[in-house]
Amino acid sequence: MVQSIKKRRAVREYLNEPIPEDKLDRIIDAAMYAPSANAIYPWELVVVTNLETREELSKVTPWSAHAKEAPAIIAVLGLEKDSPYWIEDCSIVAENIWLQATEEGLSSCWIQIRNNSNAEKEVKAILKVPDDVRVLCLMPIGVPAKPLPEHGKEAFKKDKVRYDKYK
Ligand SMILES: Cc1cc2nc3c(=O)[nH]c(=O)nc-3n(C[C@H](O)[C@H](O)[C@H](O)COP(=O)(O)O)c2cc1C
Repeated sequence: MVQSIKKRRAVREYLNEPIPEDKLDRIIDAAMYAPSANAIYPWELVVVTNLETREELSKVTPWSAHAKEAPAIIAVLGLEKDSPYWIEDCSIVAENIWLQATEEGLSSCWIQIRNNSNAEKEVKAILKVPDDVRVLCLMPIGVPAKPLPEHGKEAFKKDKVRYDKYK
């Protein structure tokens, strides 16, 4: 498992190649089996493949331009009214999407929408999301144009881990 986790990278360049349906299905499956506080599962997904919609979504933040190259974008929505833990739950959904995409030879990169200026309002207008449903992030999915190296030892900082007590 840790080998797969180390391969996951934030990829922002994709080939203009469609995503096979079975791969996309397994990514959605991985998202849906995320754990959830009190087993509420306060999430919904919008899978966007339409080019015009992808182009609109890619303009919602200064850090979302790469999304338009991706043949699919998954918007991770949170049902805030159903659970106070929707952010935690939906974050795990997004990570499952990212990890399964990597496992399928594809890539992704979290695009922050919640608490990011007007981005959430704009995404909701583009995707026609109801007022009481939140948008945590967008997860573009595509074949990486240039695979990035997997994480090496530099990410493991021994002093970030303490044992038994902090001091
Ligand atoms: C909560 C969160 C928000 C992020 N927001 C963005 C974003 O809006 N745009 C973007 O290009 N990358 C975004 N990233 C990707 C990070 O920049 C990336 O994960 C980080 O640079 C580490 O690189 P790695 O994912 O390849 O390990 C976000 C990642 C997380 C976890």
